[in-house]
Amino acid sequence: MKQMIFAANWKMNHSPSDASAFMREFLAHFGKHQDRTVIFFPPALTFGAVVNALKDRPDIQLGVQNIYWEDRGAFTGENSASIARSSGAKYVLVGHSERRHVFGETEEETGKKVAAATRAGLTPIVCVGETLAQREAGETEGVVLRQLRAALANVSSADAANVLVAYEPVWAIGTGKTATPADATTVHRAIGAELRKRLDSGSSAVPILYGGSVNRGNAAELLAAPEVDGLLVGGASLDAGGWASIVLT
Ligand code: PGA
Repeated sequence: MKQMIFAANWKMNHSPSDASAFMREFLAHFGKHQDRTVIFFPPALTFGAVVNALKDRPDIQLGVQNIYWEDRGAFTGENSASIARSSGAKYVLVGHSERRHVFGETEEETGKKVAAATRAGLTPIVCVGETLAQREAGETEGVVLRQLRAALANVSSADAANVLVAYEPVWAIGTGKTATPADATTVHRAIGAELRKRLDSGSSAVPILYGGSVNRGNAAELLAAPEVDGLLVGGASLDAGGWASIVLT
């Protein structure tokens, strides 16, 4: 059975007490399921409350939304991969479009973050995606594959086999516009082909998630698209009942 991945990116939403209330409701809806992996990405200061709320549910995973690439030192405001790992995170988002476009994160920096995550034993979810202007200029594949190559530039092919990728068209994030399942499949196929060139031939396939205005109305058709191994969801992951219904799609 195909293992589907459902990742909830809360962005800068939910205080520790909101998160505890969310988890009480979510866990009441969501029992253990072997065919799906659920991962929450709470804000850093809410992370501990989620760890606490999930202490009896080791089947549910946790990740951080960002890390800095150095292992330690005088970097006020930042968190390292090893701090994230020792706090209970298993995953980290790298190269999310808001990091790239709001905070000016460069492709070179995504490469350093993937390497730092890998050193610390965190699994990076490498986010890639084109802007509307790039899509209209026919540059989608070129942009996405360049972002992917840069993100994987500093890791071995064995470590590259342990990442996850999320295709998130920038024009679809938080806008209510989604790629069609066929559009997603086209880009996921290109990503998969690039990964096969980069990985050792014996490696198992890297899961590729789709993200961008996913909601309970479109989750099923996106999940049914060939080459889509899961969903990375922002806005529609903030409501416990709504998120449970997406995860149970
Ligand atoms: P959205 O965000 O679901 O609100 O579009 C997705 C994301 O940014 O990961």
